[in-house]
Amino acid sequence: MKVVLGVSGGIAAYKACELLRLFTESGHEVRVVPTREALKFVGAPTWAALSGNPVSPEVWDDVHEVPHVRIGKRADLVVVAPATADVLAKAAHGLAGDLLTNTLLTATCPVVFAPAMHTEMWQHPATRANVATLRERGTVVIDPAVGRLTGADTGPGRLPDPAEIFQVCLRVLRGRPQDLAGRKVVVSAGGTREAIDPVRYIGNRSSGLQGYALARTAAARGAEVTLVSANAALPDPAGAKVVRVESTAELRDAVLAASTGADVVVMAAAVADFRPATRHDTKIKKTDGEPEAIHLVKNPDILAELGERRRAEPGPSVIVGFAAETHDVLANGQAKLARKGCDLLVVNQVGEGLAFGTPDNAATVLVAGGDPVEVPFGPKEDLADAVWDLVAVRLG
Ligand SMILES: Cc1cc2nc3c(=O)[nH]c(=O)nc-3n(C[C@H](O)[C@H](O)[C@H](O)COP(=O)(O)O)c2cc1C
Repeated sequence: MKVVLGVSGGIAAYKACELLRLFTESGHEVRVVPTREALKFVGAPTWAALSGNPVSPEVWDDVHEVPHVRIGKRADLVVVAPATADVLAKAAHGLAGDLLTNTLLTATCPVVFAPAMHTEMWQHPATRANVATLRERGTVVIDPAVGRLTGADTGPGRLPDPAEIFQVCLRVLRGRPQDLAGRKVVVSAGGTREAIDPVRYIGNRSSGLQGYALARTAAARGAEVTLVSANAALPDPAGAKVVRVESTAELRDAVLAASTGADVVVMAAAVADFRPATRHDTKIKKTDGEPEAIHLVKNPDILAELGERRRAEPGPSVIVGFAAETHDVLANGQAKLARKGCDLLVVNQVGEGLAFGTPDNAATVLVAGGDPVEVPFGPKEDLADAVWDLVAVRLG
């Protein structure tokens, strides 16, 4: 595929080198079109050497090849990363003062912007309006990540991880729909930890990979995603707002808060059913003789609570639960679907190298009032897409 990588003049321009490598190493032909300001951050020789193609920010080079029209028309995808406030404004208003903005005007293929800027610039009404205009036209604008910015300050405005931008681009290239655009989605991921003392906890084997795949695919399908992440050591999915939690109590509070006004809640996190009745304030010391028994108490059932709340007041249109079972998988799943009042229940067999920490998964999605859907063994992204396909149908 022919990819145009537009690079504008933000401090994150150096990260676009990694994005470029991801494209070239997976066999795509990449033409880098930097702005003049981008070249103040990373020089043309770097882009030329890494892409194997000529590099210029001007419409006046190689005029006989009419690059200001040809590059955009030939492209299968244009991705601008990082996209400055300035380039978003120019694109929204159709300005064409350099090769990149000309390319954006002549491209008939999908366009992805990955903005990166200071929080104030991102939240300025002018930028908000420009982003809204671009999205209305069908352009994919990835929400920036929250984190450390140029200086010591932090906030929304950071360029998402290049590998995550790359995943969004691949999905756009494959023609995946933006059928969750305008939908608010909450996904929980990872595994909760219940403290025994300041050092030790009771946890589980969930890596968060499935929940992150759900968040990544929902964001790529246009949803506004809040990912409540319990102890997962994974890069933030591009475009998702990530709320980090540790215990089940924290996860419950974060999910319930985010689910107000949400269209969909997906509870993919492995939530501890029990927690120690007492959390010791200091480390339990090794003593002679047998240690004290750890007395457990039940944790709140968040999935059931979401279902109950929805019966009492308007709530998410679709609630999706996950069931990890080691035996009697389908029978246990059907009973859980009926008990919890959710719309879909993704049942997967776990243990002995299955599901936890692996990149692939297989599952049965139980549908309230419908037939179960088998999702064959494959990447967790495929299972995530199968879930979103069913959710999209229920959202109408
Ligand atoms: C050190 C430095 C870092 C900058 N980082 C950003 C940035 O991350 N995002 C942004 O929108 N503008 C940033 N700017 C401002 C842009 O470079 C400026 O708006 C420029 O005109 C953008 O031009 P372009 O959009 O044509 O590349 C930065 C400027 C400087 C000097």
